[in-house]
Amino acid sequence: MNSNQTKTLNEGTREQWGSRIAFILAAAGSAVGLGNIWRFPYVVGTNGGAAFVIVYLVIIFLIGYPMMITEMSLGQKTHKNAIGAFRSLAPNSPWWITGALGVLAGFVILSFYSVVAGWAMSYFFKTISGALGAGTDYVGTFVGHITNPVATVLWHAVFMVITLAVIAAGVVKGIERTVKILMPALFVLLLALVFRSMTLPGAGAGIAFYLTPDFSELSGQSILGAVGQAFFTLSLGMGCMITYGSYLSDKEEIADNAAWVVGLDTAIALMAGFAIFPAVFALGFDPASGAGLAFMTLPGVFAAMPGGTIFGAAFFLLLTVAALTSAISLLEVVVAWVVDEKGWDRKKASLIIGGLIFAVGIPATISMNEVDFQMFGMPFFDVLDIFQESILLPLGGLLTAVFAGHVYTAKKLKEDANKNRGKIFIGGWFDVLIKYLVPIGIAVVMVVGWYDVFFK
Ligand code: PHE
Repeated sequence: MNSNQTKTLNEGTREQWGSRIAFILAAAGSAVGLGNIWRFPYVVGTNGGAAFVIVYLVIIFLIGYPMMITEMSLGQKTHKNAIGAFRSLAPNSPWWITGALGVLAGFVILSFYSVVAGWAMSYFFKTISGALGAGTDYVGTFVGHITNPVATVLWHAVFMVITLAVIAAGVVKGIERTVKILMPALFVLLLALVFRSMTLPGAGAGIAFYLTPDFSELSGQSILGAVGQAFFTLSLGMGCMITYGSYLSDKEEIADNAAWVVGLDTAIALMAGFAIFPAVFALGFDPASGAGLAFMTLPGVFAAMPGGTIFGAAFFLLLTVAALTSAISLLEVVVAWVVDEKGWDRKKASLIIGGLIFAVGIPATISMNEVDFQMFGMPFFDVLDIFQESILLPLGGLLTAVFAGHVYTAKKLKEDANKNRGKIFIGGWFDVLIKYLVPIGIAVVMVVGWYDVFFK
């Protein structure tokens, strides 16, 4: 820790990122995850392609970026966890509930996130062992895998153990050390995959699907989907960036760091599309195959391409690595809260919370098999995903924006975030966005989208 700086109330005893790069890598590591590589391509695929991508990019720019600045700055200002941050800026008010929703979201998201990460790990080994070679029934294999309770629960357990071990080791020794190795590796792997996919004969059709917009495909539900995806992929609306920002020294600037994180996350999502769609089209698969895209379509793509085993293994390794650097941030939101507010020991907190999240994930893993754990007529897994995408994250984002813009005030937030000025100056545009456009935009999209989701 840096001892020769002006300390705020909480800075003295709190762990701190070792450098600016460490913070950017950790925050980008949180942002870049299954959301970019597994979720983004299939959501684009089921929402008609390019038109959805354009709406998504506009939302990232107008809602995602100001929200990123807001959350990082609230964290740096208070040096507190998601709940503590709201409590210390608005004591004796119910605003802490916003943070509590975030802690709940961390819990809910990680419980099914770890299940998917477990699929990715097992697919890495399946690819290497040749179990996914040409001529395999990929759909059957995937269904067989996700309906095998022993295998899925076991992989889910392995992934949770790795995640909680990183968090137990702490911010610098755990999170920072992990992301410094894994993030560059992820980038190199993804570049290789993009190159392979784009140079396949017949890749052009996939590129066209990805880049030629048809706006008639868009519905209220798909726009809510784009907002939900934007929050999910940037780890926003649930106090994650508040928590990571809380380990940032008071000397660090905000606006440039936020731009780096948003930029890296967006670049990697777009690259994932370039890695997937050209290959899917080149080999005659369906881009709209939904959540199974990465698991049912891609193994076929890999089996059909030269060097497919290596690229396939690289892909599932990439998915696992990306998932890990995000999963640790999800767990950190919950752990930071009990460590700060309840005085728990970090190791004990990681173990207990990690164990609880593992337990909640079990019904999600087995909701897709014979046991068929359903709720509202849907597999429990889908319930968790729809709950976070259409309710938890947009609502958390809405409340955070109203809080920052009107309660704490945009003026004070700007002062905090501009204190160590970088290249980007947070000017009057920020007021317009955080006070009006972001909350009103989210509210409208939520109402219209809910109507589509629940009443159509
Ligand atoms: N951003 C991560 C992803 O895209 C998921 C995540 C959401 C992580 C919210 C932390 C908080 O996969």
